[in-house]
Amino acid sequence: MKRLVFLTGAGMSAESGISTFRDSGGLWEQYPVQQVASIEGYMADPELVINFYNERRRQLLEVKPCEGHRLVASMEKDYDVTVITQNVDNLHEKAGSTKVIHLHGELMKATSTNNPNDPRCIITLPEDNLDIKMGQKAADGSQLRPFIVWFGESVPMIEPAIAEIMKADIVVVIGTSLNVYPAAGLLGYVSSGCKIYLIDPADVRYDHSLGITHIKKGASEGMRELIAEHIPVAHE
Ligand code: OAD
Repeated sequence: MKRLVFLTGAGMSAESGISTFRDSGGLWEQYPVQQVASIEGYMADPELVINFYNERRRQLLEVKPCEGHRLVASMEKDYDVTVITQNVDNLHEKAGSTKVIHLHGELMKATSTNNPNDPRCIITLPEDNLDIKMGQKAADGSQLRPFIVWFGESVPMIEPAIAEIMKADIVVVIGTSLNVYPAAGLLGYVSSGCKIYLIDPADVRYDHSLGITHIKKGASEGMRELIAEHIPVAHE
């Protein structure tokens, strides 16, 4: 089976009703990114940041995967698929994708303030008790915090992501402005024979020497076009 890697960003979930970050009306227009998505912001006002992600988590329960997520999952019938996502939602999993690498953490999980990457401290929040509360402790006794990779923190999942990108026969980038590193640097690791597609309704800045085929459509329509015209599938 050919190896197919998807690299997805906020635009992947836009049609599910989750705001992107940098489009007009995006999340970083409404909330200062330094305040709610940096380790300094968290240390300065943990309650505000915890509540910001509590709100995002409640919204996540109200949305569903879009057709694009479902088409990505359906590719597993014909390809060896890995999804590398910058998204903290769980919509790829809900659509049926079985191998998902979350570069920037997961909204449904919580961890320790002192040891955020210690697997013994990472828990999945139950759907009937979604909020992280001030004073709630992780396994190591420190304040429980969202399992989100904030600006200023390391990105431990970048190593497995690089390993997958290097082995890929086809890479499909969907809905990311490719502004945030190290995720945006992943395309630098593709092998020479690898074919790269980009699905995004807007112009995205990327290295033109990579020979990327840009399908200038939204995630769902773009996935339909990708399957119809570019990468064949045997299944219906
Ligand atoms: P951005 O908001 O920077 O980019 C969203 C991309 O999605 C843009 O290129 C849009 O043109 C595109 N887009 C919009 N609607 C779309 C649709 N219906 N279908 C497909 N594409 C669409 O989001 P990211 O690149 O994901 O990190 O941002 C990367 C990281 O920055 C995020 O993971 C987050 C943020 O700060 C953290 O919070 C750590």
